[in-house]
Amino acid sequence: MSKEHNNSTAITPLFSAEAIENRIREIGKAISVDFAFATSASPLLLIVVLKGAFIFAADLVRTITIPCTVDFIHASSYGSGKISSGNVTIKHNLAIEGRHILLVEDIIDTGLTIQQIEAELMTMKPASISICTLLDKPETRKHPVVARYRGFIVPNAFIVGYGIDFNEQYRGLPALGKLDS
Ligand code: IMP
Ligand code: MG
Repeated sequence: MSKEHNNSTAITPLFSAEAIENRIREIGKAISVDFAFATSASPLLLIVVLKGAFIFAADLVRTITIPCTVDFIHASSYGSGKISSGNVTIKHNLAIEGRHILLVEDIIDTGLTIQQIEAELMTMKPASISICTLLDKPETRKHPVVARYRGFIVPNAFIVGYGIDFNEQYRGLPALGKLDS
């Protein structure tokens, strides 16, 4: 990733495309081992949290070697800036009763978004829910959620790239970086 993405905003590189690819391969292996009991009659269900996790999920699903299916849920907590609104809007059209669920998220920050998604999905009687996040910011956690799988731990900074945005920008950057303020 170039340091200067455009003329006004600097991005400090954190994880290269190659580092991300290698880490995802490890996570995909771990998931495939842990859910080795999945069958084509009873596949693991990946629920991808849109929009930020779309690239992560696309790469992750190609490293998973057990039967799995993919569906999506839309969550938004940020308005137009860097401060979480504390108000999570969740939209989905899922039927998950009896399914083993892997929630695929981009970043866990305060934990509010994933906690609310998990609470909503739990009412739909899945067999289990596990969380897989590309990035974890444990320093800023306010709601006690634990990811079974996490790619990288990051400091309390604003991260962009590899699907993750600031005001809908930077999702297409192949690597992850910190938006300098
Ligand atoms: P939480 O509800 O505070 O855990 O925030 C989770 C959501 O906020 C994530 O799914 C992201 O979409 C967004 N978010 C949190 N931190 C960042 C960041 O550093 N960059 C971009 N989006 C972020
Ligand atoms: Mg998100």
